[in-house]
Amino acid sequence: MKLKRYIIFSAIAMSMYACQRGPNDPGTEYAPNMYVSVAYEPYSMVKDSINKINPYGINLREPAQGTVARRNYKTTYKDETTGEEYDLGLMVYRTHPDSLEQAAKTLKNPLKITKQVLAEGKVLYEYYCQHCHGAEGKGDGKVGQKYGGVANLAGGQIAKVNGGHIFHVITHGKGRMWPHGSQINPLERWKIVSYVHLLQGQIDADGNPIVKEEKKEEKKEETKK
Ligand code: HEC
Repeated sequence: MKLKRYIIFSAIAMSMYACQRGPNDPGTEYAPNMYVSVAYEPYSMVKDSINKINPYGINLREPAQGTVARRNYKTTYKDETTGEEYDLGLMVYRTHPDSLEQAAKTLKNPLKITKQVLAEGKVLYEYYCQHCHGAEGKGDGKVGQKYGGVANLAGGQIAKVNGGHIFHVITHGKGRMWPHGSQINPLERWKIVSYVHLLQGQIDADGNPIVKEEKKEEKKEETKK
């Protein structure tokens, strides 16, 4: 009977002991490896399995330096320089790499092309495109010369393609050109698109459309064929 009393007493003592602890303290843990994984987990740092390689003993590491944030998965983007918000539409993330034609029809540049947008687009173009496509978009960049087959953005059929088309090509690549969607966020892509329009000769340096008397010539060519 002594044993029974002893068990009851110690059970009460243990439960009271548990009650004394703060709400953030789990108290005495029974067999902790039943609920704390022995394997490395991203966030749980159990004393005995602290990661000895990473700083602060954590298992998750910070993203590599220079990683481009996806920001939000909403389709509104805030331009940090002007503070303006743009609704880029859900299509931005939904276009399939194979749907260039659809993108050309549905994706519209949400930016009003101003001198400022063109200036920013130029810088981005210099970062991401110029080494292949050349300063004037003629496909004669230093890398382009070695790479070969780089499209001339300033002439032929490509000078006529619209913003949605270019946006899609930047995002998903085309033929020998690799995709840039993971490196350049949508707003930056639209700035580049705006600048490419200048190289294509579709707009002037102020962003105003240049209307060409091309339609008649095109028709003539078509009838010749
Ligand atoms: C590594 C070199 C390289 C880089 C960098 C590059 N391109 Fe290209 N680009 C190419 C090549 C090669 C083609 C021809 C693709 C094909 O038809 O095979 C091309 C084609 C294109 C086309 C025409 C697509 C069509 O409809 O035929 C556009 C527009 C274009 N690039 C825009 C850009 C823009 C804007 C950038 C910068 C964000 C860029 N490119 C960066 C190599 C590059």
